[in-house]
Amino acid sequence: MKKLVVLSGAGISAESGIPTFRDAGGLWEGYRVEDVATPDAWRKDRALVLDFYNERRKKALSVEPNRGHEILAELESRFDVTIVTQNVDNLHERAGSSHVIHLHGSLFESRSTVDENLVYPIKGWELKLGDKCEKGSQLRPNIVWFGEMVPKMEEAAAYAQDADIFIVVGTSMVVYPAAGLIEYVRREVPKFIVDPGSPEFRDARDIVFIREKASTGLEKVREELHKFLG
Ligand code: APR
Repeated sequence: MKKLVVLSGAGISAESGIPTFRDAGGLWEGYRVEDVATPDAWRKDRALVLDFYNERRKKALSVEPNRGHEILAELESRFDVTIVTQNVDNLHERAGSSHVIHLHGSLFESRSTVDENLVYPIKGWELKLGDKCEKGSQLRPNIVWFGEMVPKMEEAAAYAQDADIFIVVGTSMVVYPAAGLIEYVRREVPKFIVDPGSPEFRDARDIVFIREKASTGLEKVREELHKFLG
């Protein structure tokens, strides 16, 4: 089967009711990144950071995957699909995608603050002050904050390098290294971009830009993909 690699961002979850970060009414309009999503924020006010992610976890649990997530899951019957997502929700998995790399971590995992290899599932919506790892330190959300390394980038880049088809959906392409993933994709590989806005692209060669929301845009991509079967 041909290898299909997808880079997804907040826009694919927008139709499920999860706000994006940088659109009007987006999450970063209501919060300052440096107050809730940096190592410094965690040092200054753990309760505020935990609350911020508890609210987002509650929201993610209250919504359902949308047609966009479903189409990507359905493509597994015809392609070898890898989804590299910047999203910390679990809507790709809940729609049925079986190979999802979470570049920026997951809302549904906590991590030790003394040993980064100690990662635990979070059941329900709340991670509290006083919740500790087996070594006795406070647990933090297993999210990649601004200013932190992106440990899964190398793995994601290897899939991008090997891709036969590449799809980008619902990301403004302004946050690196994630936005640089497309640079790893071979030149001749067909690339589709689905976004109703104007994401940042340095290079428009061989790119089909579908300026639509994820549900209808991915339906069009699916039709185009017939050409690449066989
Ligand atoms: N379908 C597809 N795309 C959409 C939709 C939709 N229904 N609605 C909005 N979009 C597009 C916007 O036009 C924009 O290009 O989704 C993109 C969302 O961009 P951002 O809000 O910047 O989200 P994202 O690119 O995922 O952010 C990257 O930044 O804050 C950090 O760590 C966070 O992973 C996140 C990273």
